[in-house]
Amino acid sequence: MEGLARLEYRGYDSAGVAVVTPGGLKWAKRAGKLTNLSTALKENPLPLATAAIGHTRWATHGGPTDTNAHPHISADGNLALIHNGIIENFNTLKDELAADGVSFLSETDTEVAAHLVSRAYNELGDLTAAMLAVTRVLEGAFTLLAVHADRPGTVVGARRNSPLVVGLGEGENFLGSDVAAFISQTKSALELGQDQVVTITADSVRVIDGDGNPVEPRAFTVDWDASAAVKGGFATFMDKEIHDQPKAVADTLLGRADKSGHLALDELHISESVLRSIDKIVVIACGTAAYAGQVAKYAIEHWCRIPVEVELAHEFRYRDPVVNEKTLVVAISQSGETMDTIMAVRHAREQGSKVLAIVNTHGSTIPRESDAVLYTHAGPEVAVASTKAFLAQITACYLLGLYLAQLRGNMYADEIRSILKELALMPDKIQRVVDNEEQVRDVARSMKDATSVLFLGRHVGFPVAMEGALKLKELAYIHAEGFAAGELKHGPIALVEQDQPVFVIVPSPRGRDQLHAKVISNIQEVRARGARTLVIAEEGDTAVEPFADVVFRVPQTPTLLAPLVCVVPLQIFACELATAKGLDVDQPRNLAKSVTVE
Ligand code: AGP
Repeated sequence: MEGLARLEYRGYDSAGVAVVTPGGLKWAKRAGKLTNLSTALKENPLPLATAAIGHTRWATHGGPTDTNAHPHISADGNLALIHNGIIENFNTLKDELAADGVSFLSETDTEVAAHLVSRAYNELGDLTAAMLAVTRVLEGAFTLLAVHADRPGTVVGARRNSPLVVGLGEGENFLGSDVAAFISQTKSALELGQDQVVTITADSVRVIDGDGNPVEPRAFTVDWDASAAVKGGFATFMDKEIHDQPKAVADTLLGRADKSGHLALDELHISESVLRSIDKIVVIACGTAAYAGQVAKYAIEHWCRIPVEVELAHEFRYRDPVVNEKTLVVAISQSGETMDTIMAVRHAREQGSKVLAIVNTHGSTIPRESDAVLYTHAGPEVAVASTKAFLAQITACYLLGLYLAQLRGNMYADEIRSILKELALMPDKIQRVVDNEEQVRDVARSMKDATSVLFLGRHVGFPVAMEGALKLKELAYIHAEGFAAGELKHGPIALVEQDQPVFVIVPSPRGRDQLHAKVISNIQEVRARGARTLVIAEEGDTAVEPFADVVFRVPQTPTLLAPLVCVVPLQIFACELATAKGLDVDQPRNLAKSVTVE
């Protein structure tokens, strides 16, 4: 329970434990906060045991209920299993098990794995071999732990594209999704590689690779204290979440297109005929989520030829919007609890519109009050300033646009496939930008006394400019303004004086005709008036160099996908400048992570 409490920062909507005792397997699990489980255990204590597994769940498949909470138990009640990640092929595996007469209690992908490991154990008589056999049929991302009534004192784990580390104690050993789970007991740990299976007892740790061959895992010592551990060793949650962005995008893409590039948004429960009949899309959201919607506008209009309006939720319902049954309203929200957006959703539905929620938090209010939901899989976002959820929202909007284009026949399958291939490359490209963070941090520290910063962008760079300005406002309390670069000569250029810092997001030179050239001329306009130009530009784009005081490079990316990399230097800049000012990065003044009042 202490280990689960240390993982509390990861956010969760349910928790559970299982223990192996001489009297067999015992477990308890509850939806809601960890205190619900603690209370249940006080009322009905589990027997003492020397081996146990515990889990806090961040729902992906199936809402946060007692039944869907982990651990999941085999039909014979002898095996308990817990899981982090997404098993992409769970529907197929579930159908095969059901055809064999297995009945399911929950809606989760995890329960499928529990039944599979139990069946393999009953065939092989060995829990390690059973876990290895099952990992070979699973697709997707998973960390699995299992215990069995026949094997008291033993815990078996496996991982693929999801973290699992071993803690080496004195007369005890640990497994955890990160070291925070056991750091109060030991700082001596082992790293586990992809597809490895680990078997621990109180005095042994055995690791095998995907072929069953023994491997020597890399040992390391955790040099964080407990509080740093919950941030993955980063100074702030925001730092951690900026670094989580490649995974947030990859996880949001996971399982939504098959190998042929055919999109299947299986949780999008709006009929295809309705989706074919819509003649307008209205995005409703607030703050950063609204900027994700603005990026979506460019992509969806280009791919689907459907008009897309982006409305600030708090303005939407007071505007007497023209929406009806042929309008698809898309509500974007990380928390799913933003009251402005909830009220806008209710208004849209009263007008007869179908509402699709793009939300990060399972079981929150907005998906419950919508017709359908497309979850982002960014994992819990703790810092008030949204980063990884923003990239995941943009990614989900791209998937929605491509899905509509596929459904309505606006794009050929090969066109969709090529964009999905580009999307699949984005996590690595984002990682490359994050890897260059020190250049950005150096510049941010040198600018910690700035009092006003402007952000310019065109096309999809415009919402990126707005987001960059918002980050600086909410983190460093500096007045900042993002605007369309073409708007400069219509007024804002009057703001530009000697040394005025101006960020400029430069589109790909290979992209939309003239876009690149026009932004270069905008840089010249502000530079001619004394501005200090900080330019976000593609690798190899030398045209910006004569006019840029600083260039932050991003990998070459298709125009419509560029926000996924261009915003990252702006996030890092705002985070570092706030840090340099000694401000509270994770909990900025006056702000809340979820604005649950109108
Ligand atoms: C973004 O950094 C801010 N925390 C804020 O603008 C936020 O995006 C907005 O309040 C919307 O929140 P939601 O995504 O949870 O609905």
